[in-house]
Amino acid sequence: MDNRLGGKMFILDYRSRQPLHKKIYQKLKKQILSGELQPDTKLPSIKNFSLELSVSRNTVEHAYQQLCAEGYIHSRPRSGYYVSSIDPEFLPRDLCKIHTAHQEVSGFEKLYSYDFHPAILSAESFPVNLWRKLYLDCLKEDPKQYSNYKDQQGDFALRCEIQKYLARSRDVSCDPEQIVLCSGLQDSLSKVALILQENHSAFAIEDPGYFVPKKVFQNHSFSITPVPINLNGLDLNSLQNTNSTVVYVTPSHQFPLGYVMPVTNRLKLIDWAESVGGVIIEDDYDSELRYSGKPIPSLQGLHPQGNIVYVGTFSKVLSPALRISYMVLPFRLLTVYRRLFSDYFTNVSFLEQRTLYKFMEQGYWDCHLRKMRIVYKKKHDALIQSIHHHFGSQGNIIGQGAGLHVVLELVGNPLNEEELIERAQARDIRLFSLSGTYFHNNCISSQVMLGFGSMTCEEIDQGIESLYQSWFL
Ligand SMILES: Cc1ncc(COP(=O)(O)O)c(C=O)c1O
Repeated sequence: MDNRLGGKMFILDYRSRQPLHKKIYQKLKKQILSGELQPDTKLPSIKNFSLELSVSRNTVEHAYQQLCAEGYIHSRPRSGYYVSSIDPEFLPRDLCKIHTAHQEVSGFEKLYSYDFHPAILSAESFPVNLWRKLYLDCLKEDPKQYSNYKDQQGDFALRCEIQKYLARSRDVSCDPEQIVLCSGLQDSLSKVALILQENHSAFAIEDPGYFVPKKVFQNHSFSITPVPINLNGLDLNSLQNTNSTVVYVTPSHQFPLGYVMPVTNRLKLIDWAESVGGVIIEDDYDSELRYSGKPIPSLQGLHPQGNIVYVGTFSKVLSPALRISYMVLPFRLLTVYRRLFSDYFTNVSFLEQRTLYKFMEQGYWDCHLRKMRIVYKKKHDALIQSIHHHFGSQGNIIGQGAGLHVVLELVGNPLNEEELIERAQARDIRLFSLSGTYFHNNCISSQVMLGFGSMTCEEIDQGIESLYQSWFL
């Protein structure tokens, strides 16, 4: 099966078990990166390419969409798909080194046949065409609005949209005044750390938990105390035995174990904060993605007047590359924020803010959420089914029902995490370390994290089958 593209035969490797769309995607990407396909080269139409390769149109379309989403190609209205020009800074230095599509390329992540990374999204997560249209609509507006530095807390109209969304979906009770646009969690937490530094110095984090809060507060000279996780999320007795007055929690879907903090514990946590004059940082990072059971309202909504900083992100449902997130500050902390940051400027691009505003205001955000919930629920269900099918009683699933990953605990397998990851890698499967989420980086034998966002249901099943074979056969 071959075809001419860029003056060369386009031959697919039939020995590999990868899905066809991935083979096409990787081959085209390799040709673009190596310069074999020059910027502005027109790609064959989906119809012609699928006929020439004897594959379905969907297969070619899927490959093109992935390349589009990643910026390697773009479509021109009524004309077709063209190779995009890539900043030379990002091109590999020694092009001759690229022998296989799987080889690591300078500046780019290694591609795996099966990628179980917990924070990589599905290609359709970012609605490229719609985003482009809305972005262009912004550019047609009065250019005067792009000639100054704009609101330090972020575009007020966008903050109003976020406030409405948080009120109706997360029961967060706040004023748009309290919302600050940020460029990701590390940015929000850096600001919060500066605000809290005046009165606090001891910070408690979930163990296991997300590594960013630890790093940020360490960098701001806080002492860090890990607090264990139990089936109800953060262990409150252990928290009470620390000298911390600031705590970071993921109560609606604990990262990485997926537990939900029940309302009684949430109220106890709020009591704790009141009694020590403390502050709770609630990270609601993937609250949009719940596939079963009732939606869980935010902790902030239980005590809007309390010292709770609520943080959220557009990284899980839209794109982590956008770097747009937000935080809701209680009024007491908002006053300090305004004092400390009065001379600062926002670090979120105003054009992206306006595009996001249009996206939310015109109702696309709600549609997109519904669509992505369906997309990820399918993948989530495929993963659960596949684990049951291939592992049976040799695998326990922890933290299912929400988000973009689960934890798999192996039963009756003597391999430790390092060995499990190594064996997977030998089969071209990427796993993300769970022990890295523990404060002391201790190896939890026989548990691995399985993200399902970036793969198709078919790939998920093949990947799980291959994992089982590599560990048990
Ligand atoms: C627990 C947690 N919070 C927040 C985020 C998102 O962070 P950001 O907004 O910086 O993309 C992630 C990303 O993986 C996460 O795992």
